Amino acid sequence: MLSVVVLISGSGSNLRALLEATENPLFGAKIVAVGSDNAADGLAHAEQFGVPTFVVSPGSFDTRENWANVLLANINHFKPDLVVLAGFMRILPGNFVSALSPNLINTHPSLLPAFPGAHAVRDALAAGAQVSGVTIHVVDEGVDTGPHIAQASVPVLADDSEYDLHERIKVVERELLIATVKDIANKKIHLPSLAK
Ligand code: GAR
Repeated sequence: MLSVVVLISGSGSNLRALLEATENPLFGAKIVAVGSDNAADGLAHAEQFGVPTFVVSPGSFDTRENWANVLLANINHFKPDLVVLAGFMRILPGNFVSALSPNLINTHPSLLPAFPGAHAVRDALAAGAQVSGVTIHVVDEGVDTGPHIAQASVPVLADDSEYDLHERIKVVERELLIATVKDIANKKIHLPSLAK
């Protein structure tokens, strides 16, 4: 059974989808803890499923590296095989990434390499993109630059607001994230060979 820690910053709809999918013992993965950089609303999903949570806020630390070391210690306490960033909105420093690589993946709401960063949906609309989507990738030390694992496209509609488009992307994103974690658990995806 693949043990997974999920990190979130917000509402946690991707987390919830993973919690529901992994309830089935045949799925092959189990969420052992959920962490956040703030008292995120999405932590309530973990509590409903009886999954332990932790919050490590960067505001209490002098440097990003010190914050990330404490975040990492909280994660390592659960000895996960995989860490999933599901709407985790902080950039992680190199010491954190290299400690977990390649077993650290992120889901991002655009077709990378287009529109990296914290405002991918807004940026896609501002650029007049006709298609956007979701990318799941291995995390490296850049911002949304790591090797791609899976992508799915979502059309941009004429009257889309940022909210509308993001919600439609999230419908596809949740399915792609579930399928990706399942494929990692069942060894159909081998992260070390992707990360080379
Ligand atoms: C997701 O769409 C995720 O891709 C995005 O935040 C959303 C979280 O939604 N992440 C990023 O933009 C990272 N750059 P959720 O809290 O409902 O799962």
